[in-house]
Amino acid sequence: MSPTFPTVRLRRLRQHPVIRDLIRETELNLGDLVHAIFIKEDKGEKNPISSMPGHYKIPLSKLDEEIEEIVGLGIKSIILFGIPDTKDKNGSNSFNDDGIIQKALHKIRTIAPDLFVITDVCLCQYTDHGHCGPLCDKHGRLDVHNDQTLDILSKQALSHVKAGSQMIAPSGMIDGMISVLRKTLDDAGFSHIPILSYSVKYWSAMYGPFGLAAEGAAKVGDRRTYQMDPANGNEAFREAELDVLEGADILMVKPAHTYLDIIYRIKQAHPHIPLCAYHTSGEFCMIKAASEKGWIDEKRAALEVLTSIKRAGADFIINYYTKEVARWMQEDSA
Ligand code: PBG
Ligand code: ZN
Repeated sequence: MSPTFPTVRLRRLRQHPVIRDLIRETELNLGDLVHAIFIKEDKGEKNPISSMPGHYKIPLSKLDEEIEEIVGLGIKSIILFGIPDTKDKNGSNSFNDDGIIQKALHKIRTIAPDLFVITDVCLCQYTDHGHCGPLCDKHGRLDVHNDQTLDILSKQALSHVKAGSQMIAPSGMIDGMISVLRKTLDDAGFSHIPILSYSVKYWSAMYGPFGLAAEGAAKVGDRRTYQMDPANGNEAFREAELDVLEGADILMVKPAHTYLDIIYRIKQAHPHIPLCAYHTSGEFCMIKAASEKGWIDEKRAALEVLTSIKRAGADFIINYYTKEVARWMQEDSA
């Protein structure tokens, strides 16, 4: 009798669903997914976001329905993005206690106290020029004014947390950001609030659809000066290490699909620190558009990509497929 190799044996045994589950290494759960939503001031109807089918700019007046749907689907956590009515050069609406995110937080925490709410802390949706902080001239080049930005971000973070945010996610990659925000929260009696740092954020074309949705794309210059070069991997470790030293509770890699190597390496380097990956708007709409054309099986493609991001080392994933995953899981278990 010829010997059977173990891999061949396992491949055959996997036909048995129990063994398949026993030896499966990665399992995608709804609990691993953070649903991203866009909220606008109270005007009219939900506006469909054309670059992100299935996603809307939700007015405060329709937020109740939206949150009910989210909770009904079994989704456990969300991250909020605000689209303010007015913008200025300093993004001062971001720390208005009566601002869009703050009002949304009060509402959500009342209607759905068990839903975990994360807020993105950054100024690019609130500045009229679309950069992540007030601008200045640095040696003849347009750049974000670091210290002024830190000051405004502190106010924004504090105002989010006071309104009920349970975790802040600063996304600007501003130098010294994590330590300043940590100190701000601690000094104000919010030492229990964790910081999810967008530690490794690449200067990526994948944020395009989000930029259209949130009206946050830079109108002059670009964000190269404070986001990472997609060609560099080793640099990611210095960024992550700094954030750890500064007190980040959770690290993030963004985007996800084209940066699986970075996710893997950051997890290896910091195995004891939870790692989040951001499957961004561009990554979402690539699957979405191809499936609308009938060129790809949406469910299989989306679940494959999200599972791969976990397999690479992410503990959880911020993404735009959470609602669909919830529905697919309900279908599968029905
Ligand atoms: C910044 C922020 C952005 C995203 C999340 N937080 C915009 C950007 O970095 O340009 C983008 C996420 C996506 O494309 O899905 N507030
Ligand atoms: Zn920003």
